[in-house]
Amino acid sequence: MQTIVSQQVTESVTRAAVFLVLTLRPGSDTAATCRALSGDLAGIVRAIGSRLPDTKLSCVMGFGADAWKSICGTHAPKGLHPFKELKGKHHAVSTQADLLFHIRAARMDVCFELATHLMDRLGDAVASADQVQGFSYFDNRDLIGFVDGTENPVDGAAREATIIGDEDPDFAGGSYVIIQKYLHDLKTWNALPVAEQEKIIGRYKQSNIELADDVKPSYAHNALTTILDEDGKQLDILRDNMPFGDPAKGEFGTYFIGYARSPERIERMLENMFIGSPPGNYDRLLDFSRAITGSLFFTPSADFLDSVPDMKADDSSATKD
Ligand code: HEM
Repeated sequence: MQTIVSQQVTESVTRAAVFLVLTLRPGSDTAATCRALSGDLAGIVRAIGSRLPDTKLSCVMGFGADAWKSICGTHAPKGLHPFKELKGKHHAVSTQADLLFHIRAARMDVCFELATHLMDRLGDAVASADQVQGFSYFDNRDLIGFVDGTENPVDGAAREATIIGDEDPDFAGGSYVIIQKYLHDLKTWNALPVAEQEKIIGRYKQSNIELADDVKPSYAHNALTTILDEDGKQLDILRDNMPFGDPAKGEFGTYFIGYARSPERIERMLENMFIGSPPGNYDRLLDFSRAITGSLFFTPSADFLDSVPDMKADDSSATKD
């Protein structure tokens, strides 16, 4: 049986990341330029990564629903659709973009170098929707001071949580990814007693130990983002959140990125956070953290990405004004 090679979705958490989020510009060459880059991406990452092998450079490319149609032209993966906005006490906005490049490495310079080459190749075919440089902060803490990523699945469990199998055979080896850029009101958060912060996250701040069930509120972040299937088995996703910010502007954020083999997993978590479970019992972290973007992408297998240049695309949507 042929083994399908996935993109580096389950690459272990690194020190630096660039989240390059792009929209397609109308133009007769747009789709062809993107297709050509898809086929060359692995080679470009290898070329730059080989100059600094210890930095473990990786890049995952994702396509939004419209971009999939105009670039790849094949039928779409089953779960691919634009990010669904949610309005509860707080708002999960949809700012659906066309392409995502999730670049990770142990050092920012090598991430920056790759982002520069990608933009050079894409040229006028794309416009920047957002570009965030994320960094690892002390013991993998986010800027609200809590260790982030503890309950991530690892190794086989990470693959099981993120990589599509028989449920969508044409797209086996692919994955879905949701991104959201959150800005924290750090002054208000830091004024909150640590014991209250711990109830909101569901873990002790200093030790990172989980609160026991009898003291953990039902609105705790880690309670609302724990979801089960119909047999009571926990459904995992893989997160690689990164702090980012600009202290001079008072900007302090968490770039949320979650991979899963079906978008419904992440969407259920978002519903629990923004609408509440039960409705009204929402995630109090959102009283201090505002989502200002939201996009859903499909990340095909590496084999699929290689074959994109040969695909017959629906160029009409890329040429629309
Ligand atoms: C402001 C944005 C966010 C921050 C600062 C944040 C922070 C955290 C922290 C500190 C933890 C506990 C440690 C850990 O297990 O990683 C956690 C857990 C978790 N978060 Fe978030 N998170 C954010 C947004 C989200 C979003 C949008 C989702 C999903 C839609 C999510 C899903 C999860 C999951 C699945 C867990 C693990 C739950 C468990 O099994 O214990 N988080 N998050």
